[in-house]
Amino acid sequence: MVTTWENYLTRPDAARAHRDCHLRCRRTFENQRDCIRRIFETTRPKVVACLGAGVLNDLPYRAFVESGATVHLVDWLPGVVESGVAHSIIRHTGGGPPQCVYCLCPEADPLAYCSNYRKSRTSAQGVCDRFAPDAREPLTCLAFHKGNFPFIYQQDVTGGYASAFGRGVCGEVRTVTSWRQALRRAGALANRVKRQRTTMDIPDASVDLVTSSMVVSQFEHEPYGYFSKQAAAVLGPPSPGEENRLRPAMEALRSTLLANQIERHCDEIERILAPGGHCFMAFEMFHVEDGTGRWLLVREMHGALGRDRAAFRFQLRHTSPIGLGGPVRNPRGPVGGPTLRA
Ligand SMILES: C[S@@+](CC[C@H](N)C(=O)[O-])C[C@H]1O[C@@H](n2cnc3c(N)ncnc32)[C@H](O)[C@@H]1O
Repeated sequence: MVTTWENYLTRPDAARAHRDCHLRCRRTFENQRDCIRRIFETTRPKVVACLGAGVLNDLPYRAFVESGATVHLVDWLPGVVESGVAHSIIRHTGGGPPQCVYCLCPEADPLAYCSNYRKSRTSAQGVCDRFAPDAREPLTCLAFHKGNFPFIYQQDVTGGYASAFGRGVCGEVRTVTSWRQALRRAGALANRVKRQRTTMDIPDASVDLVTSSMVVSQFEHEPYGYFSKQAAAVLGPPSPGEENRLRPAMEALRSTLLANQIERHCDEIERILAPGGHCFMAFEMFHVEDGTGRWLLVREMHGALGRDRAAFRFQLRHTSPIGLGGPVRNPRGPVGGPTLRA
């Protein structure tokens, strides 16, 4: 049975997977989080939008709340951002008492963030009267119930391009009789859906700082992966010989999908950035090949840099073991200003 695009994005046992991801990967992203925190502190945005926010491992979410900024968090996986928020709000270090950023923050109206908040009667408390610790790591509050903020969107950060391809591909491959035909039809669809455009619910020219952290290099996976699963369900997997013969067509489809997603992602960033706003973008330039351990350039990442250069003014270069990126200034805004350095 071939699953729909929406079901494909719905992970079985998602809540546990998100919690595990938070536990396993949060430390790995510490440098990235610090880098985004520095950029946030330097640019002092009133409105922040994080595209592909995932479980928030690389986002200094507490710093966003403490500053009183309006926060938009976008990811297309159901429940992933909600889980990230729940796992980010309680700090519990060094055996001290737990501290909830919503309960403690003078800039925040706690009820706007947690509709279950009730002020603590003892002023020394770092949590409110409703606090109910979940015994599992990382510490969360079982009583937490999201209020009006932050704004969370389960939406596509490629202006609907990746989702339109995903929704259309099932119909395209249902009646195919060969892999070559499946690739031809998918390629035609990948070009056709460029004409469709939807936008995220974030208003035009409204955001002072946009982050796109480790998202662009992920564009490789889902739409092409879904196409191959659909085609394999109809045709069976290609034989090794057939796969060799089809490799150029497969590579061409992946490149088209990736280039179009990058293009549309950058369009969305340009659309929501306020004049003079900044964007921080980071992506993996290399993948390590399974088995051989060889470092390979992630396809089309040079294209992503070229696309960014055409649309934005670079103000900072930052290199780290996991990525390359920097805040870029929206050219519609005032030119000049301080040059930022990592
Ligand atoms: C590697 S994660 C980024 C790290 C994430 N900020 C974190 O801290 O966990 C990439 C995220 O981008 C999301 N993503 C990829 N393509 C997307 C798309 N077209 N629209 C929305 N989200 C997307 C994935 O679901 C995933 O959560």
